[in-house]
Amino acid sequence: MAGDIEDPYPVSDSDWASADEGSLDVTTLASSVLNYEYKVRPAQTKTPMISDTKDKRVQNGRRKVQPNDEAEQDRMDLLHHIYALILDGELHMAPIKSHPERVLDLGTGTGIWAIDFADQYKSAEVLGNDLSPIQPSWIPPNLQFEVDDYEADWVYSRPFDYIHGRELAGAVSNFDRLFQQAFEHLKPGGYLEMQSFRVEVYADDDSLDRAPYTTKMCSLLQEASAKFGKPMANMDEWADRMMKEGFDDVTCKIVKVPISPWPADKKQKEIGKFFQAQQMQGIQSYVPELLQSILKWGADEVEVLMAGARKELFDTTIHQYGKLYFVYGRKPRG
Ligand SMILES: C[S@@+](CC[C@H](N)C(=O)[O-])C[C@H]1O[C@@H](n2cnc3c(N)ncnc32)[C@H](O)[C@@H]1O
Repeated sequence: MAGDIEDPYPVSDSDWASADEGSLDVTTLASSVLNYEYKVRPAQTKTPMISDTKDKRVQNGRRKVQPNDEAEQDRMDLLHHIYALILDGELHMAPIKSHPERVLDLGTGTGIWAIDFADQYKSAEVLGNDLSPIQPSWIPPNLQFEVDDYEADWVYSRPFDYIHGRELAGAVSNFDRLFQQAFEHLKPGGYLEMQSFRVEVYADDDSLDRAPYTTKMCSLLQEASAKFGKPMANMDEWADRMMKEGFDDVTCKIVKVPISPWPADKKQKEIGKFFQAQQMQGIQSYVPELLQSILKWGADEVEVLMAGARKELFDTTIHQYGKLYFVYGRKPRG
């Protein structure tokens, strides 16, 4: 099933922004978003503080290609802001009911989405699970975190109104099983929503010809993650897989998101600025691990590839954008 693509860009040549280079401090940018006023949501006032920030790629006996160190946590918080900018502060795209009673956030990470959701839907009982122990300094009273493996058998005794999984591409080996378990653990009428960026770059002109390192890096990440058994780019299959498990009204929306601040449009430029910062960190967090340990590249070759991709990230004559997928479906009312 093909998704609907939202194209927010001005695309005439005269609209292209000029180069906007500089170094990016991900931590500073991540903390700068704390007081951001979104259209439908007031500024964040609390931020999760993870007490255990060692890089853990093996958790509960499961090996992951994703790191979980402080830099990765800052990257996830920046991504949270990017999602909020795209959704004007909303936390979901699925038309969930206005007073959900029970909500599950799969692979909650820093818990930033679950914290905002619980803060906004105060009457909901929200549960966030993850392989890593999560100990934020503050969480709303209606939120609980648990250490759990969403690929193992789910043992929840009560069903959910809404199950949410964000940025889990590259963290799931069996999507059919995940969707099947979500289906079983939803109330009739409840929604499953998966949100994720695809590891791939696009441009609507020929400027990607000047981004050979970035395009190569993305195809290598796709190859490595598929070889590892947790693909990073299979979102086009999600809707069909959800329908196969019995979900109704399955919807796939794809939003084009600038990867650097090249658009002239103010909002798109801002999104691009934050995306550029998270991409800088993402390259460092994912590329060496996937290319060296899975594709057996040498450290020097990886450095050359990353340096080239970083340079292209700061070239705003390259009009690169990524695709963000929102895929959701409803459990039939019975
Ligand atoms: C890229 S992060 C996304 C975090 C969060 N959903 C967000 O959008 O901010 C992926 C998270 O999934 C967690 N994860 C990976 N495999 C998991 C599994 N089998 N069970 C539970 N959590 C898992 C990782 O520990 C990591 O925190």
